Amino acid sequence: MYYDQPVMIVEGKMQYVWDDTGKRYLDAFAGIASISVGHCHPHVVAAVQDQAGRIQHTSVICLHPTIARFAEKLAGRFPDDSGLQVSYFTNSGSESNDLAVMRCRLYTGRFDMIALRNGYHGGSQATMALTAQSTWKFPVPHSFGAHFAIPGYCYRCPLGLGYPSCGVKCARDVAERARDRGLLLGTAGIFGNTIRLTPPMCITRSDADFIVDCLDDVLAEVELKLR
Ligand SMILES: Cc1ncc(COP(=O)(O)O)c(C=O)c1O
Repeated sequence: MYYDQPVMIVEGKMQYVWDDTGKRYLDAFAGIASISVGHCHPHVVAAVQDQAGRIQHTSVICLHPTIARFAEKLAGRFPDDSGLQVSYFTNSGSESNDLAVMRCRLYTGRFDMIALRNGYHGGSQATMALTAQSTWKFPVPHSFGAHFAIPGYCYRCPLGLGYPSCGVKCARDVAERARDRGLLLGTAGIFGNTIRLTPPMCITRSDADFIVDCLDDVLAEVELKLR
C-alpha cells in the first residue's frame, strides 16, 4: 500500500472520479497520465461493450483484426519520414520498457543500460533494476547491467553547479557512461511524466527542453566519435 490513507476510487466520469464515500475529485492524475480521454468516455465504453460481446480473449498466437487496424491508424499518424510503421502492443509501461531493453540488447549485442538517477521505470526485474528511487525498489538483486548517470536538474543541481559556468557536466556524465556501454534508456520519474507544481521545485517546459537539447548535443557528439 502506497499511502497511510489511500483513496478508494469507485467511479469515474470524464474528468471526475468519486471515492467510496461519494466525494468527488477533479482527476488531475489521469492514471499517471495514461487516461488521456477521461474516465468512461461514452465512445470508449461503447467500444469496450461491443468487443466484450464479440470475443474477449484469444492469444498472441492468433491474429486479431482490431489490433491490426489500430496499428495501421497509429502508423498513419507518425511523420512520413519517421520510418515508424511497426507497433508492438504491451499491457503496461514495465512490459514495454522490458521489451525496449531486450530489443536494444538484441540489436546492439551489448547488455549494459544507463538510466538517470531518481528515475522510475517500472516494477519488473529489469525495470526495477533501472529504477533509482529506493521507495520503488525491493532490496534484492535485480536484473544485470544497470548503471546510473547524474540527472540534469538546474534548480537543484546534484553537482552544486550553476548554468552556464557548469559546462553541462550532468549531460557529459551521461555521455561518458554511454561511451563505454551499450544504450541509453529515456528519462523518467521527476524528469519524465511527473511535473512538480510547487515552487521552488517547479521545472518549466523550457528547462526540460534545455536539458533534452544538452543531452541530444552531447550524445550526438559521442555517436560521431564512436563511428
Ligand atoms: C515513467 C514510468 N515508466 C514506467 C512505468 C511503469 O508502468 P506500469 O505501472 O504500467 O508497469 C511508470 C508507471 O508509473 C512510469 O511512470
